Amino acid sequence: MTMKRIAMRGGALATALAFSAGLAAAAAGSQTQLDVDKLHERANETFEPIPSRVPEVDGNAVTHSRVELGRMLFFDPRLSASQALSCNSCHQMGLGGDDNQTTSIGHGWQQGPRNAPTVFNAVFNTAQFWDGRAEDLKAQAKGPVQASVEMANTPKRVEKTLRSIPGYIDAFEKAFPRQDQPVTFDNMAKALEAFQATLITPASRFDQFLEGNYDALDTREKRGLKAFMDVGCSACHAGVNLGGQNYYPFGVVKKPGSEVLPRDDKGRFQVTKTASDNYVFRAAPLRNIELTAPYFHSGQVWDLEQAVAIMGVAQLGQELSEKQITQITAFLRTLTGEQPRVQYPVLPKGTDETPRPVPFEEAPERR
Ligand code: HEC
Ligand code: HEC
Repeated sequence: MTMKRIAMRGGALATALAFSAGLAAAAAGSQTQLDVDKLHERANETFEPIPSRVPEVDGNAVTHSRVELGRMLFFDPRLSASQALSCNSCHQMGLGGDDNQTTSIGHGWQQGPRNAPTVFNAVFNTAQFWDGRAEDLKAQAKGPVQASVEMANTPKRVEKTLRSIPGYIDAFEKAFPRQDQPVTFDNMAKALEAFQATLITPASRFDQFLEGNYDALDTREKRGLKAFMDVGCSACHAGVNLGGQNYYPFGVVKKPGSEVLPRDDKGRFQVTKTASDNYVFRAAPLRNIELTAPYFHSGQVWDLEQAVAIMGVAQLGQELSEKQITQITAFLRTLTGEQPRVQYPVLPKGTDETPRPVPFEEAPERR
């Protein structure tokens, strides 16, 4: 499969897309017998199943005690200035790892500018956020704690909070042994990364198909998989997460309207300040996509079929037929894996030294 390795944008992408458009025209005419062996082989060249074991993380040992600490931190609203919002407020463990809001609600009921992506399988993305501005989950975890529209806290105040809670001092000592001062903002981020590395969703029906169980997908879903590759979706949505690996303009061929692509969010341009990165975003990972509506960084599209149709026009310059849309969407629904069963932790109790919550109506900087 040559499309798998196409360059980010420009000539190579245009060629690949033109090539795929040709394939699509060929495919549209024929609803002939599916060659399932061939489909299986092509799919395995393009995608990878989610592993059943927790992956290793660069520069961070995913030990039991780190994961346990990370789980407490993930659910602890005391990481936020208001002490009302935890990571789980916007990345709900029971809702596919996101919040099903158009854009998330943070400190003081402020609405952030972007839709919350799922944290499930995020460990497999090459970089974090819609614009890839954090290189990994460790760097990422420091963002929301400080973002004024999210948890609105400061590293100093977080450290003060955690150091005031004996149960946390113990847990950090266990997770980061032989350090003089283990209770740090950095180690908080590492523990959150370790916990999130465990949030993987193996054994989707699609993965079962990749592993050789042809019956895991019905005929419509198989045709959807074929269409997904034939029309060129997999040029950008490939690999283990069917996305999350590379950056492309949202609107390679035709920019969506400003309700779906608000013109003030220029995506990766804000990170690189390079003109060619205007409206460039990370190809969204598509695992568990049926659970994580609404769609796109603007969170403006609730219907998965509509999202597929928009992609056809915006990225491929193609009005997909109703049949193609139904088949591709049926395929996308097979990407739902086993959801992590996360036990809600009992959080260690605070002391008189623990800072008090900053009321929502107060700007947190004043404390
Ligand atoms: C107020 C809601 C909110 C809270 C609280 C929040 N997040 Fe997020 N999270 C978001 C939004 C919105 C984004 C996307 C922002 C962007 O791309 O610019 C995001 C992005 C992420 C991502 C990137 C996923 C990907 O595929 O790119 C991860 C991982 C993540 N958050 C983890 C966390 C952790 C860990 C915490 C707690 C320390 C947390 N979040 C707290 C809303 C929130
Ligand atoms: C040229 C690269 C490219 C191609 C081709 C492409 N996509 Fe995308 N896709 C993206 C990017 C980039 C985004 C993120 C858009 C944004 O900023 O919201 C995305 C987002 C999506 C989303 C929304 C995911 C979410 O979590 O909100 C879906 C669904 C999707 N694509 C499906 C498809 C399908 C189906 C096709 C084929 C018809 C396709 N894509 C073709 C790059 C591509």
